[in-house]
Amino acid sequence: MRILVIGRGGREHAIVWALKRADGSRKIYCAPGNAGIAQLAELVDIGELEFDRLVKFAQEQEIDLVVVGPDDPLAAGIVDALEAGGLRVYGPRQNAAEIEGSKIFMKNLLHKYGIPTAKYATFTDYESAKAYLDAQEIPIVIKADGLAAGKGVTVCFSREQADEALRDTMLNKSFGAAGDKVVIEEFLEGQEMSILAFVDGATVRPMSPAQDHKPVFDGDKGPNTGGMGTYSPLPHIPQSIIDVAIETIVEPTARAMVAEGRPFRGVLFAGLMITKDGPKTIEFNARFGDPETQVVLPRLKTDLLEIFQASLDGRLDRIEIEWSDEAAVCVVLASEGYPGSYPKGLPIDGLDQISEDDALVFHAGTASKDGRFVTNGGRVLGVVGRGRGIAEARDRAYAAADRINFPGKQNRTDIAAKALV
Ligand code: AMP
Ligand code: GLY
Repeated sequence: MRILVIGRGGREHAIVWALKRADGSRKIYCAPGNAGIAQLAELVDIGELEFDRLVKFAQEQEIDLVVVGPDDPLAAGIVDALEAGGLRVYGPRQNAAEIEGSKIFMKNLLHKYGIPTAKYATFTDYESAKAYLDAQEIPIVIKADGLAAGKGVTVCFSREQADEALRDTMLNKSFGAAGDKVVIEEFLEGQEMSILAFVDGATVRPMSPAQDHKPVFDGDKGPNTGGMGTYSPLPHIPQSIIDVAIETIVEPTARAMVAEGRPFRGVLFAGLMITKDGPKTIEFNARFGDPETQVVLPRLKTDLLEIFQASLDGRLDRIEIEWSDEAAVCVVLASEGYPGSYPKGLPIDGLDQISEDDALVFHAGTASKDGRFVTNGGRVLGVVGRGRGIAEARDRAYAAADRINFPGKQNRTDIAAKALV
């Protein structure tokens, strides 16, 4: 079995780890990967958006299955390109990946099919957006339409902040072309929860839920990041609420995509707010979450490859998918300055002292230089502790995280704290 995983983050490290754990004899390539992934897979020096080169490589190496990690290549049609080259690919085609690639597409879809989400309006010009904004109550949420590395959303708690966010997004182009169009959306209050599901058309097989921590600082302060830490399962959220979210949001959305002629095959990831009126959709992603994957896949007992193959063979509804009762907590170690600019190439110490029994260390942004690991991204490592409950998993994650060091290392100290009260 020859597999090519596309991407370079902690998510892809976790995917490669899960594929390899089930069967160590699998030959795995990763393009372009990172220094941690290189311990399990052969790195291929081709970028995620170099479709022609990826197709050629996969054909020449007789790759049996390609798995796509990140959002950018999915939105740009990588699955269509690889399929046109005769390859077998796990991930949504471009017309289905649009559920993440355009927030306006997603909001309009949910509105059309009566799927719960925040009230909203969409704009393509600044003047009308500003006039609408002036008439709204605060807090309010301003979102760039397109992909912005998880940073295109501003939750505004004052009028000044809202005005500034709108100007930054639409006039100053802080998120580039992603901000040519915006969504202005009602602020939802409640607990957040992510439900990831393996989806093939109308078949939805939910994974165990997880919770992310997007703001960079403790107490959910500071700007949003790609995610500073996660945990799974969510012991403080009743299964009945999770079931309602699946029945009223995830399943109807999968059916809506089929009805629209855009059947979704891949991981559909719903970011939800549990409001006093029940769960409502914040966003959809068309891929595994990062760092949600780092806590969800270690809890998956079934072989991930079997799930991918079942989806591609149209038998996802018939396989058994088993989860461990164990809890997992991921603490992200980030570079100083992230989510703004940050240095690269700083030496990382302590990695060799951590065994898989202490914690799993998934590399998010690392490279190797002169035989040692150095920082190479905003999010550098995801340290995952596992245990009988969240408290034990969390203690193990932080014990290992404290033993890893690089200059300017920053991490939140309150990951999973909400689950303990
Ligand atoms: P997104 O990139 O769409 O996941 O948004 C980033 C974060 O902004 C989410 O994880 C929420 O914490 C917050 N957020 C987005 N939309 C809303 C909303 N309508 N109400 C409250 N918080 C929101
Ligand atoms: N952790 C959020 C995301 O992957 O979009």
